[in-house]
Amino acid sequence: MAKVILKGIRKSYGPIEVLSGIDLTIENGDFAVILGPSGCGKTTLLRTIAGLETANAGSIQIGERIVDDIPAARRQIGMVFQTYALFPHLNVYQNISFGMRMRNEPKDQIEQRVQEAAVKLKLEDYLKRLPRELSGGQRQRVAIGRALVREPEVFLFDEPLSNLDAELRVDMRLELSALHQQLKATMIYVTHDQVEAMTLGTKIIVLDKGVLQQVGTPLEVYYHPANKFVAGFVGSPRMRFIPGEVVSNADNKLQVRAQGILSGDIAFDLEGSDLSEGDFVDIGVRAEDIECGQATNGMVSFSGISRQVENMGHSSFWYGTIKDTEIEIIARLGKQTQVKSGAQMEFSIDPRNLYLFDSDGRAILRNVDKNTELAEHVALPS
Ligand SMILES: Nc1ncnc2c1ncn2[C@@H]1O[C@H](COP(=O)(O)OP(=O)(O)OP(=O)(O)O)[C@@H](O)[C@H]1O
Ligand SMILES: [Mg+2]
Repeated sequence: MAKVILKGIRKSYGPIEVLSGIDLTIENGDFAVILGPSGCGKTTLLRTIAGLETANAGSIQIGERIVDDIPAARRQIGMVFQTYALFPHLNVYQNISFGMRMRNEPKDQIEQRVQEAAVKLKLEDYLKRLPRELSGGQRQRVAIGRALVREPEVFLFDEPLSNLDAELRVDMRLELSALHQQLKATMIYVTHDQVEAMTLGTKIIVLDKGVLQQVGTPLEVYYHPANKFVAGFVGSPRMRFIPGEVVSNADNKLQVRAQGILSGDIAFDLEGSDLSEGDFVDIGVRAEDIECGQATNGMVSFSGISRQVENMGHSSFWYGTIKDTEIEIIARLGKQTQVKSGAQMEFSIDPRNLYLFDSDGRAILRNVDKNTELAEHVALPS
């Protein structure tokens, strides 16, 4: 297994630059998830690592080797595509062993590797079946099996679960995670599904318009997004933003006046910031941090005008606007919430849970003990 280092990778199709200088190190054994909206360059980046596309500039290292001049077939990579790309007339055994047979590898070695892969992927009972006789999840496992028997240095997955139904996706997600732990392999996994990214990744790489936005652990990108794009993209439902204006900045305390907030100016403790009176900012709010009911002392409060509520079973999502504004808010409420459209609701938020961004969308660091804050959020019952 190997680490992967990208240096200054650029890729254009004609005049359009799709990857704008990607610098990235993926450590040995990482499960690195590349996350970003449709068209941001995820597949292009993966195909460039695999050697299926040639970068216009930059360099790629896999393990100890610079692979820029090494063709795809010799890059020691196992790739799993969104469309499983199985041969319909070959059975599972033949599909999994196809590459090995093409390379004329010894028969007993083929037999051994296919059997090992079949056990890992729970395909032992299906080796004689044709792809059309399999479920979507089983087909996907065959595609993974084909990558597995190559014993690659790095696995590349391009949205491997997107053709599966919701339940199977969850199953396969858990299986992939288990497979990663078992193989301890370096995996690079592309998705635009941020639940997959949060649950699978040891590292999340957020990409937008061919530019890296942030690289970090799932909790880092969730709780400490580098900018408004990452904040708005990671998390479900997405973070909402309340526009505000700096009233004063002194002694590491920033006072912000925000539209529709009833509890007065919001005080942010900062590690020092060059923001000054009159600067525009955005205050980020996550649905799960909003509480329903009259605010207690020290809480930031606002009234909301309801539009609709989605009951999800385990919780419900309230959609509406801050009263007398057009600012859209989503709040996660209790299990059963019945609210009429147009009804007024009272909400509050602990100001420590608010996020702050400058007018260029850059996150402004809060003067809170990040470790304690994170620990609070992720504390497990002991
Ligand atoms: N062969 C090509 N020729 C021209 N443009 C291309 C080519 N392949 C991709 N593109 C463009 O490059 C951009 C990035 O494409 P890419 O497939 O990498 O996106 P993606 O992030 O994988 O999106 P999705 O989530 O929809 O799969 C897109 O705007 C796409 O139209
Ligand atoms: Mg793609």
